[in-house]
Amino acid sequence: MITNTEIEYKGNLYPNQIVDFKQETDKFYFTTENGVILEITVLRNSAIRFRYATDYRFQPDFSYAISPTASKGYNQLESEETSTEYLIRTSKIQILVDKKSLRVQISDLEGNIINEDESGFHWEENHEHGGNNVKMSKITQTGESYYGMGDKATHTNLKGKRVSNWVTDQYAYTKDQDPLYKAIPFYIGLHNNIAYGIFFDNTFHTCFDFSHERRHVTSFWADGGEMNYYFFYGPDMGRVVRAYTDLTGTPELPPLWALGFHQSKWSYYPESRVKKLAKKFRDLKIPCDAIYLDIDYMDGFRCFTWDKKKFPDPKRMIDELYKDGFKTVVMIDPGIKVDRNYWVYNEALEKDYFCKRADGPIMQGKVWPGECSFPDFTNPEVRKWWAELYKELIAETGVHAVWNDMNEPAVMEVPSKTAPLDTRHDYDGHPCSHRKAHNVYGTQMVRATYEGVKKYVYPKRPFVITRAAYAGAQRFTSTWTGDNVATWEHLWIANVQVQRMCMSGMSFVGSDIGGFAEQPNGELFARWIQLGIFHPFCRVHSSGDHGDQEPWSFDKEVTDIVRDYLELRYQLLPYLYTMFWRYSEDNVPMLKPLVYYDQEDPQTHFRTDEFIFGEEILVCPVQEPNAKGRRMYFPRGKWYDYWSGELIEGGMEKWVLADIDRIPLYVREGAIIPKYPVQQYVGEKEITELTLDIYYKEGVEKSTVYEDAQEGYDYTKGYYSLRNFKLNGKEKELIIQQFKNGTYITPYEHFRINLIGLPFAIKAIEVDNVEVPLKQVKPNGDNTIMVHKDFTELHIIGA
Ligand code: GLC
Repeated sequence: MITNTEIEYKGNLYPNQIVDFKQETDKFYFTTENGVILEITVLRNSAIRFRYATDYRFQPDFSYAISPTASKGYNQLESEETSTEYLIRTSKIQILVDKKSLRVQISDLEGNIINEDESGFHWEENHEHGGNNVKMSKITQTGESYYGMGDKATHTNLKGKRVSNWVTDQYAYTKDQDPLYKAIPFYIGLHNNIAYGIFFDNTFHTCFDFSHERRHVTSFWADGGEMNYYFFYGPDMGRVVRAYTDLTGTPELPPLWALGFHQSKWSYYPESRVKKLAKKFRDLKIPCDAIYLDIDYMDGFRCFTWDKKKFPDPKRMIDELYKDGFKTVVMIDPGIKVDRNYWVYNEALEKDYFCKRADGPIMQGKVWPGECSFPDFTNPEVRKWWAELYKELIAETGVHAVWNDMNEPAVMEVPSKTAPLDTRHDYDGHPCSHRKAHNVYGTQMVRATYEGVKKYVYPKRPFVITRAAYAGAQRFTSTWTGDNVATWEHLWIANVQVQRMCMSGMSFVGSDIGGFAEQPNGELFARWIQLGIFHPFCRVHSSGDHGDQEPWSFDKEVTDIVRDYLELRYQLLPYLYTMFWRYSEDNVPMLKPLVYYDQEDPQTHFRTDEFIFGEEILVCPVQEPNAKGRRMYFPRGKWYDYWSGELIEGGMEKWVLADIDRIPLYVREGAIIPKYPVQQYVGEKEITELTLDIYYKEGVEKSTVYEDAQEGYDYTKGYYSLRNFKLNGKEKELIIQQFKNGTYITPYEHFRINLIGLPFAIKAIEVDNVEVPLKQVKPNGDNTIMVHKDFTELHIIGA
């Protein structure tokens, strides 16, 4: 029962008194005296949608964020009315709606409060623009922490902070600067070992106050639209993040090469320079899969054109690069140059595809080419047209992938840095101003790009990248953290931003390694590479006007370090790919902050630096110059030092060594880490064996290796290889069982198994219950054994 109902609200006592209640299957409607309707929809046992109308009217129900394949369904739903409240109960939670105040309280079935309204829903009329500013305030529970919210460049734990969402071109942003390029109005609350999430699906400018203004209150509000939020119950954080990610969707698997290393700069031109760059990678044997062409490849920054002086025959160049393993990625911006001699401009003009101002003129703003107009990507017809524009670039010229930038949209030389707020948008048939469409503009652009690239690279898989994003953009695209700076502080920022993005449903993310603005010294570059190889998207990019940022631009020591770490990235590709598959399939974030990994341990609630890469690898970047080591926190459990094999007991902070060539790296005991041989690019070599690094543990652990053709869509027809391993370690034996799924035949025949941390000497080995001569499986006599890939049980017996 809600006790403190004696709240004064707008001078009236209890204006929100419920006067009408109605249930329609999974929807509940509560109408108040003053015309508010609360609609509660039960989506899943632990996922509930709350929507509030004023003046008895809901707005049309439309969202760009929600995935069409989001899961639905619950197995229990009851409701009940008492003299003071309504109760809705699922098999996991109970929602209480107070009759006098419309305030909501959500608890688990034991009665532990998960989340409760303070004032709850309130609003103010917006006289200037119409509609309301809609607000929600919640009680901050004792010891509550907050996470998520996209790309905020601030401490992982948002407690005590206020942040806002308005996608913004923020060149050389600083720590704590807000807002940046993404608008992901989703947060996770954690208190009393209960985690829950709230996704405020409102595309207007939104603000979130996490006990910043008032210590006991957390609130969020928007400059327009509806109070429309989704609530997800854990109690563990993993469930919350997965439920949000399920609702807003995940990407298909990318081509494996997209998980390789990418080299970019503003800009590589002309062709001879690009060729030299490519050759240098191969000469120095530094792995690389993709080269980026920034805006200068275009003719006067006109999208979908080439500067033929710089690139006389792009198709030939792209083919030649490809023969050497390089994929070419090109930039496309939303601003279309106002130019009567430019076919894209003319076509859009003719078809009436540009955004217009309130009173009718076409919206214009300056970007790289000068005056530009901007296609209205919120119009499905415009998206279709835009997708078709890629035909020439992809199908004819052979470009492999596309990079969408400046799609906030960024407009130069105006204080707002973007389109005027009165600019009109179709919004898929719900016409509105830029106030509502701004945060989704970039996502709708990259969505159209994705459709086009997908169509024209088919039967291969598309790869696209965007700078601006709203919640749900992850269904179409990867992203990077925008124009960062080559400073040590930005290395820290990159680390928290990428972890935060992973918690916010968008795992396919990385930073401009080395920093976009200014120039790193060799040490910073090396440290950034050491972190960057553990980011799902791994690309060096820089503004290019402060000096070079290729792996060999510093001294030989740095080049060697960069090579070693990129080689490690390429070795870990099957592990990374399995991470991606889990993300795509089961909504699991690819990186996990320690609080996600072990929320029960309060030590994790304020950690920023350490994270779990996938399921089993603990990474802690060095973020200071001249370091020979650092302190780091080991989560509970036992961890093997990747470099030395030493076993470390977690649950404590420790000093670890980390000279310039070492990043602190640990593997959870019981893990099985798959590795490929080093390649200069994905597909360079036929994989003739899969290495499995098996980290002994006393007890049982499970792990998975997912593989497929690394390209194309056959995997969707069952043509994949899924290996589930069960490890069972005892004092004098180790048993590995394999359960296989899928019809893809991997090209290798054998596993090369490295047994790490075995507490006993090997006396005998049985494969599927048949003892095999040790010489046959252990040719080198060490703890490496060669076993056929189809074994079902491997039994290692100690002396
Ligand atoms: C923007 C992008 C940057 C790009 C530059 C030129 O600043 O964020 O990555 O290099 O524009 O296109």
